[in-house]
Amino acid sequence: MNNVITPGPKPAEEKKQYGDDIFSVIPGFEKASAVPVLDAAVLTEEVFKRDWVSKNKPCLIKGIVKHWPAVGKWKNKEYWTDTCENVDVNVYPHINHNDPSRLNAEKMKFYDALERVYSSSDQIFSMPGETITEDGRFSGVIKDMPGFACLPSSEMPRVYDRRRFFMYRRAATAWHYHGIDETLMCQVKGAKKVALLPPDIPRAKYVTRFLHDELHLEGRTLDKSLELRPCITEVMEGDALYIPPYWHHAVIPCDGEIGFTLAFCWRSAWYKLGDFSNYFVRDVYRQGIWPFTKFTPFLPFLGMYAGISYCVKKITGVV
Ligand SMILES: [Fe+2]
Repeated sequence: MNNVITPGPKPAEEKKQYGDDIFSVIPGFEKASAVPVLDAAVLTEEVFKRDWVSKNKPCLIKGIVKHWPAVGKWKNKEYWTDTCENVDVNVYPHINHNDPSRLNAEKMKFYDALERVYSSSDQIFSMPGETITEDGRFSGVIKDMPGFACLPSSEMPRVYDRRRFFMYRRAATAWHYHGIDETLMCQVKGAKKVALLPPDIPRAKYVTRFLHDELHLEGRTLDKSLELRPCITEVMEGDALYIPPYWHHAVIPCDGEIGFTLAFCWRSAWYKLGDFSNYFVRDVYRQGIWPFTKFTPFLPFLGMYAGISYCVKKITGVV
């Protein structure tokens, strides 16, 4: 992988920040390895897709969005009020939990949310996952994100929105994984530390249940004998982290400053949904089967097609 440039930050160098307890629930986290780092200036589409997306391996891409107008414009509160309508948004005065029972969402107007996050009136503030669409909410800022040199085109995602943005101050995000779709987590303003676990972890169901239910908040701990092989990186302003499906990840901000993150998603190749030896793949279908939806009857056929695609990829190496 000739595009790999420098190792990421060592966990031992990490300082205690906002939500480090989320990382420390992983046994042996202090031995976490560094996510590979690539230089956007020399990363081609071919290399990105062949060495990282196709292999379902995360990587940090330095400087991939530093040229975006968003990096300069989004810092200014007035830019948001000049560009976007005062729509209703949901905010949290706490970290982004998985369990809805832990959420204490507040509904408010976007301009009021801006006042709160810019004034730092809350110790923790998060406006998570607001969708940006061509013809809808926040459409005025799409022009500020002119794309990626290593991903000039991509198919629309299957489940996630194409673009979601997060506005936050000191708000971490609990461990979770994306069951479908590829993601580039772009730091438009501020820096975040992200820890990840590979999909082939031992006792994946047990670990997933623990992390999803955030059982450490109830004083419980994971089996300390598990070797979960975590990795960690720091996503600085202008960088993006490629987060493949099935990788558990947790996020904590590096400082108490206001931050903006853009999650850009695109469709995974079918073969990624066809490895039924993978707990996370099976879980995607399990979640699709129940609760029953209009898509449920088609799942066996999609699974068959994905399974064949996986076998073809395994034998020929062709996606
Ligand atoms: Fe995520």
